[in-house]
Amino acid sequence: MYSINYNKVIVKTFQGLEDVLASEIEKIGGRDIEVLNRAVLFSGNKESVYAANVKLRTALRVLIPISDFDVFNENDLYKHTKSFPWQDLITPSSTIAVDSFISNSPFNHTNYVALKVKDAIVDKMREHYNSRPSVDVENPVLRVNVHIFKNNCTLSLDTSGYSLHKRGYRQAQTDAPLNECLAAGMILMSGWENGIDFYDLMCGSGTFTTEAFSIASNTAPNIHGNFSFLKWKDYEPDLFKKVIDDAKKSIVDVKSRFFTSDISAKAVAVTKTNMRNPDMRKKVHISQKDFFETLPQAKSGMIMLNPPYGERISLDDNKDFYKRIGDKLKFDYPDFNCWILSGNPESVKFIGLKPSKKINLLNGKIECKFNRYDLYTGSRKENMSFDKFQ
Ligand SMILES: C[S@@+](CC[C@H](N)C(=O)[O-])C[C@H]1O[C@@H](n2cnc3c(N)ncnc32)[C@H](O)[C@@H]1O
Repeated sequence: MYSINYNKVIVKTFQGLEDVLASEIEKIGGRDIEVLNRAVLFSGNKESVYAANVKLRTALRVLIPISDFDVFNENDLYKHTKSFPWQDLITPSSTIAVDSFISNSPFNHTNYVALKVKDAIVDKMREHYNSRPSVDVENPVLRVNVHIFKNNCTLSLDTSGYSLHKRGYRQAQTDAPLNECLAAGMILMSGWENGIDFYDLMCGSGTFTTEAFSIASNTAPNIHGNFSFLKWKDYEPDLFKKVIDDAKKSIVDVKSRFFTSDISAKAVAVTKTNMRNPDMRKKVHISQKDFFETLPQAKSGMIMLNPPYGERISLDDNKDFYKRIGDKLKFDYPDFNCWILSGNPESVKFIGLKPSKKINLLNGKIECKFNRYDLYTGSRKENMSFDKFQ
């Protein structure tokens, strides 16, 4: 009887967040951590797989590789997939789904690859049980991940079953909300921590604030997750309870204050809808305000800005907008640290401040700059202590 070996774990993430994810994995006790492209590999066990799903903020999916083989054509793919003992993992009443990813491979269409793998699993089950599982792309018992790079194919079990950015708090959204994992990764990279005031002054749907509050309170992002592994034959409820109890015990008081605003009434309403948690509402001041009319509420703090990218407005208007952002920060927010995410590298230059750190990130398909600006009252030399954010 085949049993899943939880020793080797692959956690998927966004490009640019691999190192942040690696340090998150280290904190939950992962060993032999290896940074890959858009993923991190580690040695773990069933408990660390449960914990990875519940606790990692920058993880999109937690996979367990189960089979690795060469593929040159569709027969290889079908034959190797079918040779796996699927009948030991699921029953005909289980539902399945297949996700596929290919690059530089003998195949041209990801959908075709997924279909072939699904056929092989279904045929194997039919041969064994005389009955077959059905497909449920939304909420299957078993989601299989196929990854083909050149002539190498890896089949993995998706222990999460859905993308872990779906934390459950987002009930409404504005036009261009950041992905929750990306926002969390940016905050973790920024060096911000519980105790430092947080300013989210073009908040949109409030993603930065919600993720920052979760980081400050050390609340596991997916403590209420409905993961696929909960439906598996080898699921251990006591082990999962241990992980959840540990996550609950780790929650701490939030010391930071949060100032969250947007010029748009709709964005403010959406942010309020997403921040239903009463603890959060006590600490977060949400208001409708033009950024250019905001003022600091204390001597220092950290600002996160994700201005509109301005694809639909002229460069001149954009230039003026970004220049005004730089001026506002320089004159009204001395002694603050500010991080700006922009998908418009030309416009970023008009901010007119020298970034102390530049990070390249992908926001969906848009290549973005995530830059840090350290604002000083006097000369840079006198204020080197503000370099504590690293
Ligand atoms: C790209 S969206 C921010 C998305 C946000 N990070 C999220 O995750 O939902 C840009 C936001 O900037 C806001 N905005 C544009 N100009 C502004 C201004 N002058 N003051 C404050 N907010 C502004 C827009 O209303 C919009 O909600």
